[in-house]
This record gives sequence, structure tokens and C-alpha cells, in this order.
Amino acid sequence: MRELVREHRTDPAQLVQPLFVVENPGQAGPIASMPGIERYTVESAVREARTLDALGLGSVLLFGIPKTKDARGSKNFDPDGVVQQTAREIKSALPHMIVIADLCNCEYTDHGHCGILNERGDVDNDATVEILARTALTYARAGVDVVAPSDMMDGRVGAIREALDGEDFEEIAIMAYSAKYASAFYGPFREAAGSTPQFGDRRTYQMDPSNVREALREMTLDVQEGADILMVKPALAYLDVVRAARDRFDLPIAVYNVSGEYSMIKAAALNGWIDEERAVHEMLVSFARAGANIVITYFAKEYAARSR
Ligand code: PBG
Repeated sequence: MRELVREHRTDPAQLVQPLFVVENPGQAGPIASMPGIERYTVESAVREARTLDALGLGSVLLFGIPKTKDARGSKNFDPDGVVQQTAREIKSALPHMIVIADLCNCEYTDHGHCGILNERGDVDNDATVEILARTALTYARAGVDVVAPSDMMDGRVGAIREALDGEDFEEIAIMAYSAKYASAFYGPFREAAGSTPQFGDRRTYQMDPSNVREALREMTLDVQEGADILMVKPALAYLDVVRAARDRFDLPIAVYNVSGEYSMIKAAALNGWIDEERAVHEMLVSFARAGANIVITYFAKEYAARSR
């Protein structure tokens, strides 16, 4: 009877598994702060994509970790960069799998900021937007289905859309990290991706956790600039923002269940303090209740395996 009258369900088809891919095979392997998650080489990422496909998952979100970093993040727009290579190989092995590429500079710059810096050491918004558009084209040429700008620069969605359309990539979608908060919950990710800022923080471009109306304004701008999917990130502490977004916009809404949210549950479960399976189910269904259509989560693989 409970099943019959159940209001919300989590379907593995709406889950997205993030994958970290390293250019330097020596950096592959487990991530200490995220038990159960690892960094893959291009080859092992393709193997992992096959496993995810067999479990009924339909999409992956790629993060690249280059061998070398510089002030401009040049490896990001290298046609043979690690994300470009991985996308090409996954799409040729599994053409039906949706490959989403995170689009940001923080894994590629030696200073670890999401943008390039001007002489004063501040993030240069417009120069960064140019690099993002250029990188998006190399992702599109590599076969990526969706680009997901996570940098929070102003005007990047419009610039990326224009660049893609200019090369007849009209069908490539943009999933905009529209409401991305300056959050403590990204801690484990920065260890995984080696993207901790070397000085300062991300508060000049990521949002203040206290603001909801500002999130809606960011989303409105992204809609006007041509976003196809709007994202709220992190997830757990921002479910009111997800609900507000769902009520205001007709586009698909994604939530990013971030690294810190994953590691909190894993750490408690490994200590025997929490029932992981029930906690994960409860958390994922809360995203559906709040109105999310797409859930990016490090639990996708385990959840899909249990759902079979
Ligand atoms: C890149 C990016 C970050 C995350 C996704 N894209 C890190 C950050 O902004 O510091 C975080 C993902 C996670 O914590 O799981 N800008």
C-alpha cells in the first residue's frame, strides 16, 4: 500500500555520476576524503562508464585533472586534453551515454581560481569568459552532449551559446551552475581535483549562502542567455532554493549533491553511526520532493546497483 500511494521516487535514469579523470596516470587511484570514489585514467574511465551503463545509469559528468597547470589554464582548451580524450572515447564506446563536461578553470590554473587573474590579482571576468567559450568548443568537437559551466562568471552562458551556435553546435546543451554558493561542502572535491585556491577564496564569484532572491536573479539571467538546464549547488542545505527555482522556471532543474554531502554520510556510515542505505534514500527522495529533475551525486553508482 505504501508503494501504491508513494508520491516521489528516485529513478537511476535521472542520476548523474561525476567522474574524475587524470592526465597523469600516476595520480589515479582512491581519494582519501571520498571513500569509494577514485580518480580514473582515460582508459579506466571508459571501463567505468561501461559499468555505469550496465547498471542503468545514463549520464556522467567529467572533471579533468591536467598534468601541468599555468596561470591561464591553457590545458583546458587543449583539443587533446584529458576531458576531450575521455569524452571522445566514451562516446565512441557508448554513443547513447550522455556525456556532460564540467567547464571551469580551477582544475587548470596554477593559482586554483576559477578564472584568470588581472594585474591586481583579481579574477578577470571577461577574459575568463573568452577562455570558457573557447574551451566549450573543444568539448563540443570532442563529442560532449552537455557543457556545464561551474565558474560563476557573469555572461558566460550567453558567450558559450554564441560560440557553440557559431560552429553549428546548436544541439549541444548548456547545464548552468546558476546558483552556486560559496560553500564549505566542496572541501573533499578540492582535494580530489587539486583545485584549492592558493590564496583568497571564491566569494567574489560564488554566492552568499544567505541569499535566495539573488539565486533567482542569477537563474533568470542564465535563462535569458540560453541555458537549457538550471542547477542549484550544493543540495542539502539549499532545498528551499531548489523549490523556489522549480516554482519559478519551466526548465529542468538539477541539484548537485556535492562532495562534502557524500563524505559526511560515508564517514558516519564507516563509523557505524548511520544506516547508509536508508540515509542515501532519504536524501535522494528529498531532492525529488523539492522539485529537482536531475541529481548529480557520487552515490549514483551504488544507488543504481541497489535498485536492480
Ligand atoms: C569547479 C567545481 C567545484 C565543484 C564542482 N565544480 C569546486 C569548487 O567550486 O570549489 C564542487 C563539487 C563537489 O564538491 O562535489 N569550480
